Amino acid sequence: MKGLLLAGGYGTRLRPLTFSGNKHMLPIANEPMLFYGLRDLAAVGLHEVAIVLGPMREGIREAVGDGRSFGLTVTYLVQEEPRGIADAVRRAREFVGGEPCVVYLGDNLLESGAAPLVQRFERGGYSAVIGAAPVDDPRRYGVVELDGERIVSLAEKPTEPRSSLALVGVYVFDPRIFPILDRLTPSARGELEITEALDRLVRDGAPVGVERIRGFWKDTGRPEDYLLANREVLASRPPTYFTRPGAALPAETLRGPVRIGAGTAVDPTARIEGPSVLGSGVVVGPDSVLGPFASIGDGARISGARIRDSILMERARVEGPVDLRDSILGRDAQVVAGTGSIGPISLIAGDAARLRGL
Ligand code: TTP
Repeated sequence: MKGLLLAGGYGTRLRPLTFSGNKHMLPIANEPMLFYGLRDLAAVGLHEVAIVLGPMREGIREAVGDGRSFGLTVTYLVQEEPRGIADAVRRAREFVGGEPCVVYLGDNLLESGAAPLVQRFERGGYSAVIGAAPVDDPRRYGVVELDGERIVSLAEKPTEPRSSLALVGVYVFDPRIFPILDRLTPSARGELEITEALDRLVRDGAPVGVERIRGFWKDTGRPEDYLLANREVLASRPPTYFTRPGAALPAETLRGPVRIGAGTAVDPTARIEGPSVLGSGVVVGPDSVLGPFASIGDGARISGARIRDSILMERARVEGPVDLRDSILGRDAQVVAGTGSIGPISLIAGDAARLRGL
């Protein structure tokens, strides 16, 4: 069985924000979101994975390389234009070479991982296995309607959803999908839709299994979902995943699981509550209060601020008595508060944003 991790598409969009570079490289608990999918593919026992890159692909090859550090052999395919998930899969036909394949959307995070889908597929008898989970707003997703175990309909972002079961971003296919992908035509939004390919597979009479996905699942395409994914990863990692810094800090400075990178300086008057992660070269100045659920990227500087349930990317700066919650600050973003205390507030700011004198 082969793995296909999709990291193409529109690249930077984390609606309504755009960040420089590829969205799959945005950090969750200080690691590129793409890494979670790769680890998951390795965890289900796959060895060969192709990553599909889109027009915005800077940094991915450099970060993943040949995949050795994930226990994988990773190759790269290029989809020059974001013509849809089905188009991305179609490009992997040669790579897949007649074997079954796990297709993983690189912006999805699943607590259960791909294992339940792969195990179901391996029990035999299926041409494809898809995952489904109930959502509040099915109009944003591919939607599956079931009668018991039988698929009645499949529709991509329907205006009138026939169920509240959304397709999660992991699929297992056998090679029977490829001729169907070749026959697809662009949808109203100009993409080749994987949901339509699945619908045709079902109509052709192929057995398609639906696995109910339990536990946390997020498509991290919107800021609020991205923040929830960060919180979930921090909460669900066992505390042993985190290491306390070797440097002597007063006992009351760190509470709970906190990981601190090399060269990070924490003022003795600061407090950090876990679960939280701080990258390397971070400066945490006097009277700062971080966490729980703070992910602070390399080279960030915080002074006198409170930050919880938030993601600060590399070199972001927060100075002064501001209380940030549910906030995302892009790389090199700067927030400088005046003298009066502010908040709690939620700030979503892209790369290099500057907010001064709040
Ligand atoms: P999205 O662009 O999020 O696709 P979507 O169908 O979920 O659309 P929307 O954002 O409008 O809800 O991409 C989902 C994943 O698939 C993401 O990891 C990028 C990848 N992808 C490709 O690799 N190639 C493509 O052409 C597209 C559209 C997506």
